[in-house]
Amino acid sequence: MAEQKPSKLSEIARTIRMSQIWKSIFRHNYQDTPRNRALMILSNVFLHLHPVKVRPASLKYRYTWGLGGLSFYLFLILTITGVFLMFYYRPTVEHAYWDMKDLRFVVSFGPLLRNMHRWAAHVMVFLVMFHMASVFYRSAYKTPREYNWVVGVILLLITFLLSFTGYLLPWDQLAIWAVTVGTNMAAATPILGAEGPFSLVTAENDARFILLGSKLVGQAGLLRFYVLHCVLLPLAFIILVSLHFWRVRKDEFSAVPLPPKEERAKGVRPEEWAKAHPEVLQQKVFTWPNLVSREFVSAVVLTAILTIWSVVAHAPLEELANPNKTPNPSKAPWYFVGLQELLVYFDPWIAGVALPTLILMGLIALPYVDKNPKGVGYYNFRDRKFAVGMFTYGLVLWFLLIFIGYYLRGPGWEIFMPWEPWDHFRPTSGVGLHNLPNWLGILLLGGYWGVGMVLPKLVSKDFTKKLGVGAIGYTVVMFFVLAMFFVPMKIILRNFFAVKYIVSFPAFNLNI
Ligand code: HEM
Repeated sequence: MAEQKPSKLSEIARTIRMSQIWKSIFRHNYQDTPRNRALMILSNVFLHLHPVKVRPASLKYRYTWGLGGLSFYLFLILTITGVFLMFYYRPTVEHAYWDMKDLRFVVSFGPLLRNMHRWAAHVMVFLVMFHMASVFYRSAYKTPREYNWVVGVILLLITFLLSFTGYLLPWDQLAIWAVTVGTNMAAATPILGAEGPFSLVTAENDARFILLGSKLVGQAGLLRFYVLHCVLLPLAFIILVSLHFWRVRKDEFSAVPLPPKEERAKGVRPEEWAKAHPEVLQQKVFTWPNLVSREFVSAVVLTAILTIWSVVAHAPLEELANPNKTPNPSKAPWYFVGLQELLVYFDPWIAGVALPTLILMGLIALPYVDKNPKGVGYYNFRDRKFAVGMFTYGLVLWFLLIFIGYYLRGPGWEIFMPWEPWDHFRPTSGVGLHNLPNWLGILLLGGYWGVGMVLPKLVSKDFTKKLGVGAIGYTVVMFFVLAMFFVPMKIILRNFFAVKYIVSFPAFNLNI
């Protein structure tokens, strides 16, 4: 059979690849040999954050759902669109809002730019949360990946802060009032906030003042948020995400091969199977093109979705910010609305400061107190019921509070069903609440924490052994578990027993 002649196009491609310019950039040609597949990764500054080879199990979409990679890709989209937005935006009270209007009506592709930036930010917050959940459910935070989980928790915090600081920049009613709700919580910080328990500061030098450069959201706050949003937080993100990727590469992807179906049916766990067949852990495929091509396809699909979304839906822009006209209700950005919802039940120092700090500390402590070695590298619920139960409960509570705050709260922060019209004159449901006498409150709180700490041990003698922790680990675990269940307890106390505070010390601004 006659040999097929190479097409004109492939001739041109070959000439380009053999040229001095091409070879000076890419240090090898593209014959598809195993050596070149390795070189593709090793000799490329961006790709070499990947390992050269990965286990086939880590290529499966339903293992990572591509969530980590897509979160990073969204960060890239946000950086590019953000830099273009900076060409047109001035962070001053006089100009900020009108620059937004110009972007909408005057600048070519301005709406696409702004919409894409806004929607990508929302999607990123969402995906990072789900990436964390997926890492949790496949136990990928256990040894040796504990530290990378902690880096991830800080990345989650930075993602929230990036989005929150950006929220103020359009300088419309939505922006300043959402940020007012958020930053008012800083004034409730214990010791360092003017309105917090045991305050040692005034409104002129407390935590809110440091954040805003003023007591109110104004020019100084806008500039601070702008610098945080465009310089400090992205820089911190880049440094930490590089560390995060580097550790993923060094610790290897956690995915382990699953046993064949018939073995699984017999209840054989992947770790047991891998122990019996150590060779399966050594089976690897090249990252180029197997993983890189999947990443590329995911990025293209996400870009397409975001582009269509940004063409059909405009990012919100309300009236010009007016510090004298408070919208009712004023809502925080959706990812913080759950905390705002908790303001119904707790003082701001608990809802806005103590609980978020506890959530972050609990997440950071997680890999160090969860000593159960089972389930690393695959979705396993059977062998880790306690951990899965607690994490899922926390996640559901978080999204439930967001749902109530975002969809069901109306004027006066009253509950309105989606089909009910907002009645601005509805009498407030907060009347008739009472405080428990302090002696009873202290007894109840002491009883809750005291009994709660020992109860699991009384019910099941080997509870600590089952958890695989010592006395300190047990105390830490129970502390966070009790803190998590304290939230619905307080909700029940208020809604069914009309209790406002369990204990109250107004002289110290300390009310629980
Ligand atoms: C904010 C942006 C973040 C980015 C861009 C990011 C990116 C990535 C990527 C690309 C991977 C490898 C692939 C994958 O497992 O999906 C990864 C893995 C990992 N991430 Fe993240 N991540 C972020 C946040 C977080 C958070 C919030 C946590 C947890 C609190 C976390 C913990 C981990 C861990 C433990 C791994 C290793 C997983 C494994 O080996 O299977 N990351 N991350």
